[in-house]
Amino acid sequence: MTENLNDYELALNLAENISVNLSPRPPVGAIITNEGELLGKGVTQPSPGNHAEINAILDCKNNNFSTKGSTMYTTLEPCFHEGETNPCVDKIIESGISQVFIGVVDPNPKVNEKSINKLLSNGIKVNIIEDEVQRKRSEDLIEPFKHFITTGMPYVTSKIAISLDGKIATKTGDSKWISSEKSREIVQKMRSLSDAIIIGSKTLKIDKPSLSAKEISEQPRYKVVLNSKPSNPERYLTLKSESEIIVFCEKTPTDLSSWKGIEFIEIASKDNKLDLKEALRILGERNCMNVLVEGGGQLIGSLIDLNLINKMRLFISPMLIGGINSADSIGGEGIEFISQSKKLTDMEVVRVESDIMVTGKVKSHV
Ligand SMILES: NC(=O)c1ccc[n+]([C@@H]2O[C@H](COP(=O)([O-])OP(=O)(O)OC[C@H]3O[C@@H](n4cnc5c(N)ncnc54)[C@H](OP(=O)(O)O)[C@@H]3O)[C@@H](O)[C@H]2O)c1
Repeated sequence: MTENLNDYELALNLAENISVNLSPRPPVGAIITNEGELLGKGVTQPSPGNHAEINAILDCKNNNFSTKGSTMYTTLEPCFHEGETNPCVDKIIESGISQVFIGVVDPNPKVNEKSINKLLSNGIKVNIIEDEVQRKRSEDLIEPFKHFITTGMPYVTSKIAISLDGKIATKTGDSKWISSEKSREIVQKMRSLSDAIIIGSKTLKIDKPSLSAKEISEQPRYKVVLNSKPSNPERYLTLKSESEIIVFCEKTPTDLSSWKGIEFIEIASKDNKLDLKEALRILGERNCMNVLVEGGGQLIGSLIDLNLINKMRLFISPMLIGGINSADSIGGEGIEFISQSKKLTDMEVVRVESDIMVTGKVKSHV
């Protein structure tokens, strides 16, 4: 039984082009064919919508095609467990599909190979996609989901706009704007695909950001600030929107009436640094699968020291800022030897107007 690379490519393209936040679901694409003819296709919808496989089966019905004896290509092993939707594996069996090609086995312990075994025991042929490039693309698609489902921790992406000399602000703290307009549009999209956006208290104080995804209807669920001893409610006004605001702190302020609409979560602190692992763990418990860290350098540095960043995206702008007192892109403790440096893999380099956008995975997480 050989796989049809073009059919699987179509399923992959469907999944890769999902442009809404599905969290905590992974993006999945599925198609159904029979003797080379495309009968139906589907993608996973945000909860409580259907998974890709069910949508593909429904699409066949809408197109008046029978699924009996057909072939399904899906980028992830179909689900096995009762959740908000009926298990996809049962729907596939009921539909009479006779073979299924799967991009990756589901890392979720509730599914992991169980659906494959159930399909096989119901006489359905199952093949894992063999093409290495397509396998890798399928694995990349579920990387945040895999991290989240196996560790309970959010997949953390950090975005920074830097000058050619690695600065993120001038000596007065001014940072508007280092990156190009197009780069900033990309950041708006990244925000809309995130469950939570995190910043340090100095970025809140100096930049007065909104952290909203401008001109996009989908917004992050949480805007999060690390602020040990919150003392200035006015500073938080710029964050007010439909997103919930969380402040991780050492001590909740006593004058809560001045802080309406803000949730305080107390966490431990050492040497004036809040416990970032605990903060992320709490966000994970709230089903935050994708977290975007927007700086500044101290916060990103601390996260890197603790190996808590999965992916970095830098917008490098053709400008020089200079100044010993201008903020550097990454603070924290740093390392003693180059051999201890955090390596990035899967590097992508793209020109965005005058900027260079560099994206890579931090190797300790690969
Ligand atoms: N170009 C860019 O992409 C970009 C993005 C963001 C910011 N910026 C610039 O960066 C500058 C601010 O950055 P920054 O590095 O000075 O400060 P920052 O990272 O925004 O905030 C640092 C503060 O966060 C709090 N914090 C709590 N726990 C922490 C922990 N474990 N690790 C680190 N921080 C922790 C501390 O304040 P508490 O004592 O209140 O807890 C700490 O002083 C501004 O000038 C801003 O314009 C640039």
